[in-house]
Amino acid sequence: MTERYAVIGHPVAHSQSPAIHARFAQATGQKIEYGRVEAPLDGFERAVDEFRASGGKGLNVTLPFKQAAFRYCNDVADRAREGLVVNTLMFGERTRGDNTDGVGLVRDIEGNLAVPLGGKAVLLMGAGGAAQGVVGALLAARVGELVIANRTFAKAEALAARFKATAARYDDIRDPFDLVINATSAGLGTEPAAFPVAAIGKATLAYDMVYGRVTPFLQAAGAKGAKCADGLGMLVEQAAESFFLWRGVRPPTRSVLASLRGR
Ligand code: ATR
Repeated sequence: MTERYAVIGHPVAHSQSPAIHARFAQATGQKIEYGRVEAPLDGFERAVDEFRASGGKGLNVTLPFKQAAFRYCNDVADRAREGLVVNTLMFGERTRGDNTDGVGLVRDIEGNLAVPLGGKAVLLMGAGGAAQGVVGALLAARVGELVIANRTFAKAEALAARFKATAARYDDIRDPFDLVINATSAGLGTEPAAFPVAAIGKATLAYDMVYGRVTPFLQAAGAKGAKCADGLGMLVEQAAESFFLWRGVRPPTRSVLASLRGR
């Protein structure tokens, strides 16, 4: 029997998740259908209830509902609890939530980009849901130093304190890091993008969790001669981990990533 899954968000029209899961299903011979659910900003719970009542087996949750998804679950995996965000819902007798974003980010950096994280000096920019969801996985990958910086310093401070990481103000960053991860939405809206250019050097890997466009951060990093990566690999890796949670089968990721990049 074909089982149903979807990505829920607002907006979701441009999500690549259906294309990724279709490729996973084909490669593994799993019979699944994977669609999109666009929930109104004030209607996340109702949309999930409806999807579940109609027989849906699981959801991927994207912006801006990852915190709401955490609150929705009656059972939450440890790695979701530490970040207070959920990106994967599994419907059984209870609703279980997990977060595969952190492991997706680490696998993309260490596996696809072949940059080991152990001992590295890492700057994480942002203190919203996207940043919250990956701090635990970065620390578990044994980075040498994790500095969390954010335009609004108080939010960086609060996030760093929860994980025993270090918080910094953008203005106080003077030297390059081995890895700078952009987990902000800077440059996607109408406000000018704020980020510490001094954190980027020639030897830096500049990683943006955003995919499908070159953000002001990646533009600046490219201009400085840094190695640049967008978030498409993370998207594929987090999807693979969700697929594994739902289906118990690990799908191939490199070939899927290459095909999405048109290579
Ligand atoms: P998400 O769930 O994507 O993390 P969020 O919780 O709204 O969304 O957080 C957005 C993040 O992007 C925040 O870290 C925000 O910084 P502030 O806490 O100072 O608002 C950051 N951000 C958004 N627009 C930005 C901009 N133009 N320049 C710098 N940072 C920005």
